[in-house]
Amino acid sequence: MSAEGAIELCGVPLAGPLLNGSGTFDAIAARRAFGDALLEQFPFHCYVSKTITVKPRAGNPPPRLWEVPGGLINSIGLPNKGVDGFLSEDLPLLAELPVPLCVSVMGFSPDELAVLVERASDCDEIELIELNVSCPNVETGLVMGADAGETGAAVSRLRPLTGKPLIVKLTPNATEPAVVAEAAVAAGADAVSLINTLRGMALSPRTRQPWLGGRTGGVSGAAVRAVALAQVFSVAARVEVPVIGMGGIATGADAADFLAAGATAIAVGTESFRDPAAGLRIGAELAGIRAATAAEEPAHAASGRRAPA
Ligand code: DHB
Repeated sequence: MSAEGAIELCGVPLAGPLLNGSGTFDAIAARRAFGDALLEQFPFHCYVSKTITVKPRAGNPPPRLWEVPGGLINSIGLPNKGVDGFLSEDLPLLAELPVPLCVSVMGFSPDELAVLVERASDCDEIELIELNVSCPNVETGLVMGADAGETGAAVSRLRPLTGKPLIVKLTPNATEPAVVAEAAVAAGADAVSLINTLRGMALSPRTRQPWLGGRTGGVSGAAVRAVALAQVFSVAARVEVPVIGMGGIATGADAADFLAAGATAIAVGTESFRDPAAGLRIGAELAGIRAATAAEEPAHAASGRRAPA
């Protein structure tokens, strides 16, 4: 990263290392709410769309959210317009954002993923593709990304279909996410992102039955940060490609931790629900931490002590 914070992510230049976690910041709704001020002070250096599927989906029945100490459980269930609706209605609006666009796609089979990758590949407005092999909130309950063999096979099938960078979004609900990451990279993934949400559940305090319409959901927020940091650390030690780290990042210090653990870029998710401008604050805090660390470095070097990470 340069002094200004600029990075290259899979060959795509970004003005800084901050992304949004897919599905946690609706840039089209934010533009409606905040107008062009959003474009002047966009909170992220790359925008990741909510996951799209081949066919439109209504999502899970309500309730879809439950608050836990330090976070949320969501069971949204991938509501989206489908690829045709996304490309015709949303893509022209997302192309107006002042940062590169990454489109997140999820298929119920490798064939569906292939359709999505080919369609995204045809669009110049899309610079990166994230393969969401880790959504926990769908009827099948099966998560391709929990299995290294299935993930590798899917990426091998998709790799020849596009020249755009492929980012594989990993699930923390796997025995060993680093093994899945290695399989994804061996099959041609250009980067990995992690973590998606941890499977969780809440019961209605009245009926003691599952609260969420989808029964189980995904836990996110500060509650998962330590788990995310450990998984980012272990994956970054095992793969050569960039790692996009996320999971409960809410301050510049959290972001600095994930970068020190080996992430090339970081993403803010749940914190943007509380404050849609959280990305701006976290970016500014991170810049302050990096400037302070850089100012200390010569003294540490002269004293022979290791600079703080
Ligand atoms: C949803 C949740 C996820 O964690 C994800 O990766 C994609 C979609 C959802 O419930 O909509």
